[in-house]
Amino acid sequence: MKTVAEILTLSAQFLKEKGCPRYRRDAEDLLAHALKLKRLDLYMQHDQPIQEKELEILRGFLSRAGKGEPIEYMTGEVPFYDCAIEVGPAVLIPRPETEILVDQACKSLRSSGEMTAWDICTGSGCIGIAVKKACPHLQLSLSDISDQALRFASRNAKKNSVDVEILKGDLLAPFAGRKADVIFCNPPYISSKEFLALDRSVKDFEPEEALIGGEDGFSFYQRLAEGLPDYLHPHAKIFFEIGGNQGEAVLKLFSGNPWKNARVEKDWGGKDRFFFLEFE
Ligand SMILES: C[S@@+](CC[C@H](N)C(=O)[O-])C[C@H]1O[C@@H](n2cnc3c(N)ncnc32)[C@H](O)[C@@H]1O
Repeated sequence: MKTVAEILTLSAQFLKEKGCPRYRRDAEDLLAHALKLKRLDLYMQHDQPIQEKELEILRGFLSRAGKGEPIEYMTGEVPFYDCAIEVGPAVLIPRPETEILVDQACKSLRSSGEMTAWDICTGSGCIGIAVKKACPHLQLSLSDISDQALRFASRNAKKNSVDVEILKGDLLAPFAGRKADVIFCNPPYISSKEFLALDRSVKDFEPEEALIGGEDGFSFYQRLAEGLPDYLHPHAKIFFEIGGNQGEAVLKLFSGNPWKNARVEKDWGGKDRFFFLEFE
């Protein structure tokens, strides 16, 4: 029987040959998941033998990962800010850079009074849930057009002990007649052409409707620039995630009355990634 250390080396080698960029880390995560251990425990138990039953499970995971499936859809959970977020093929996997948006929002909202906040296009619910966990005074609603995504959002709210309202519908439609003090939105923002050039692990496995924002990737921001003013209280704060080349265009779209304090911020890779602004 082979040991944990031997199987880890063989698994990482297999994933490397299949072209997985994070082959060592992915092998560790998948082996830990197959053995129901924490990743670091693999090193405490490196000389333990692995049973055939566990190897069978690992082989299944490796075969899927070798075809490009994100390992998060196998482990079923990702750490995000101060939360554990459940994921599956119906939702976008929360990206580490989205934590920058959460961090900025927490800094801006932590010492505010009670506020109504909406996380529109919520997917797994990661943004709204992570901010609410740090800022419990927010009255939070999570909305999405996808029933399946909302099931994840609802489970994630419970898992992270956060009270939320869940609403289904197209963009602002679920909020008819209501107004918010805070908007979070990471809408689909990839153009149809960019979609074709995405890595296979994204293009072939993550939900297309969570990625493509119309022909030019810009349609959600256009609809929000037009529609949002009717849904905002004075001085409302808006936190958007945007595509790497969309900074200039969103600044133009949301320029002048009734918008103020608009600014684009970059991610760790130096690309435009966030757009923050306020309502008059
Ligand atoms: C880029 S994902 C963002 C998920 C999550 N907020 C995050 O940051 O990881 C976009 C989400 O928008 C949802 N969506 C797509 N079209 C929509 C629409 N017309 N109205 C509301 N939500 C929509 C998708 O189902 C998906 O969950």
